[in-house]
Amino acid sequence: MEIIICPDADSASLSAADQVASLLHSKPTAVLGLATGGTPLALYSEIIRKYQKHQINFSQASSFNLDEYIGLAPGHPASYQSFMQENLFRHINMPAESVHIPDGLAVDVPSHCLAYENSIREAGGIDLQILGIGTDGHIGFNEPTSSLASRTRIKTLTERTRSDNARFFHSMEEVPHHVITMGIGTIMESRAISLLAFGESKARAVADMVEGPITSSVPASILQMHPTVRVFLDEPAAALLSRRDYYRHVFARKPSWQKW
Ligand code: PGA
Repeated sequence: MEIIICPDADSASLSAADQVASLLHSKPTAVLGLATGGTPLALYSEIIRKYQKHQINFSQASSFNLDEYIGLAPGHPASYQSFMQENLFRHINMPAESVHIPDGLAVDVPSHCLAYENSIREAGGIDLQILGIGTDGHIGFNEPTSSLASRTRIKTLTERTRSDNARFFHSMEEVPHHVITMGIGTIMESRAISLLAFGESKARAVADMVEGPITSSVPASILQMHPTVRVFLDEPAAALLSRRDYYRHVFARKPSWQKW
């Protein structure tokens, strides 16, 4: 893992946006894996800014979102469909038919999940997957004890995740219990992964992911097995990393030819 400790969330998001831009320049047909939640908001704002400045073009790109709540209609303000439209898609030129988000109202969830997996494969696989991390170490909505080989499927949220996400709803009771999420095996097939984590509340999960044992109790720890992972952190999220001085040392001495 490449650990990039930035002065703050905005500079980390800028670096992550530069990486997305660089990918789209070298591969205009890139397939992006996208995340929701508070963490990627500044990244999406930066991507929109780059698009407005004609520095990035999504006309040939496509995307697959990690997850969606079961039972929320696409137009529900807390659905991830709404989140993505509001915070990214309505501002950029990715064709609507190239945007993929699991359908929270799918009648046959297993078939829908299988079809989602097939669409990722047919698109050529995900080039760059953007991830956040839950305070419980989840990636996507793969909660602790998820199979490290899992595929897109239904999951039941932990009460901790429901309460972490309650801020997007009027009340805790409204937060769905079930979701469709890409599996850990699905995420691990992405060619490259950028995980962002900001704030003190993520410090424990980040340290367990980077320096702890690989265990389904901390689903993000499987990323230690992926050859191309960048972890963008602010200082508070990096606070519990015991080797953070080493990570800074490595980043400061990164050879100039080794670009994003
Ligand atoms: P957050 O969620 O960005 O809202 O903190 C991250 C996650 O649950 O993966």
